Amino acid sequence: MNTAFVTSARPEVAALRSSKIREVANAALGRPDVLPFWFGEPDEPTPEHVRRAASAALDARQTFYAQTLGVPALREAIVAYLAKLHGAMTIDSVAVTSSGTAALMHAVQALVGPGDRVVAVTPLWPNLVEMPKVLGASVVTVPLAFAPGGWQLDLQRLLDALTPATRVLLLNAPNNPTGWTLSRAQQREILAHCRERGIWIVSDDVYQRIHYDGACAPSFLDIAAPDDRVISCNSFSKAWLMTGWRLGWIVVPPALLPEIGKLIEYSTTCAPPFIQAAGIAALQRGEETIDRTVGHLRVSRDHLQARLATVPGVELAEPSPGAMYTFFRLRGLADSLAYCRALVEESGLGLAPGIAFGPDGEGYLRWCYASSTARLDEGVRRLVRHIETRPRAH
Ligand SMILES: Cc1ncc(COP(=O)(O)O)c(C=O)c1O
Repeated sequence: MNTAFVTSARPEVAALRSSKIREVANAALGRPDVLPFWFGEPDEPTPEHVRRAASAALDARQTFYAQTLGVPALREAIVAYLAKLHGAMTIDSVAVTSSGTAALMHAVQALVGPGDRVVAVTPLWPNLVEMPKVLGASVVTVPLAFAPGGWQLDLQRLLDALTPATRVLLLNAPNNPTGWTLSRAQQREILAHCRERGIWIVSDDVYQRIHYDGACAPSFLDIAAPDDRVISCNSFSKAWLMTGWRLGWIVVPPALLPEIGKLIEYSTTCAPPFIQAAGIAALQRGEETIDRTVGHLRVSRDHLQARLATVPGVELAEPSPGAMYTFFRLRGLADSLAYCRALVEESGLGLAPGIAFGPDGEGYLRWCYASSTARLDEGVRRLVRHIETRPRAH
């Protein structure tokens, strides 16, 4: 390998962390004996009517470039969907993106530059912490606290971290990996504080419909004015069972939409039109898919919680109010990456190491419970066997 060439990448890029979930998974992907619970995706396929809509669009030769901001019919469908959840919304705030990840990256690209201060609440999906660093910004983290009653935010600590020099607050609630969710009262305080200081809020809302205490988690879109510095990023991946389709959207103040358009233009040009046709179909019968998905997830969440509560050494918080993960502590665990490697290698169980979600995640393991109860049971059996036969060397 020509290392001189490799190391000529910008220092900010060379310094990015690669995904520790991938580090565990890559070595074992394709092994039929492994039970994988490491990635955040349901094991159910995309609903048939959505797949058919994509095929029909391909047959109708929707294979050409589409509008940069998304085909009007999908943008209108998104606006109608959001208006039902959050109240009035206009099309000049919404763009279609090639995934939730792309929406988040466009938000960050639009707002942060070298030396900017970004604040994020952790443990957190690693991509969100790394994205601002691609642009040369620095990320200050505010940790959630693990408590038997559920993960807790020290709101005052977050507000103190949001100094006037802060450019962006990155929030993901319901949160990956903990399932923690912001309350309406916390959102109001955060919004008021950020308004006063001119801080942008970038809210990663991809799990807002995977919420067990009501149809939708509290959203900043419910309380923000159209010209507030609030951006909401969303995705078809989770609630509509479309991870492989790479389709999402972004909601921004109308004045920012042309800038987002430029970023889409210079990265992906547009989302593929036949994929957008699938997005329209997904939203048309969306509530049906979401009800079913959340119903299954609730059963799986409660089942895994009950099983894990019987495993020696496992420390659990109350079941998460949102998302699709149980993030639990294993007593005495000091190196979650080494442990997850051994777990998959020796016992065929694929979990994500807590350290993948930042230093606050060390000592924890993340289990995506979007699976059948029979598979979850087999996973717990493997975990128990591993704990019994391999006293913790890590
Ligand atoms: C918190 C969070 N945000 C965003 C995404 C990205 O979703 P997408 O598949 O649309 O890129 C994920 C995917 O795991 C996630 O966990």
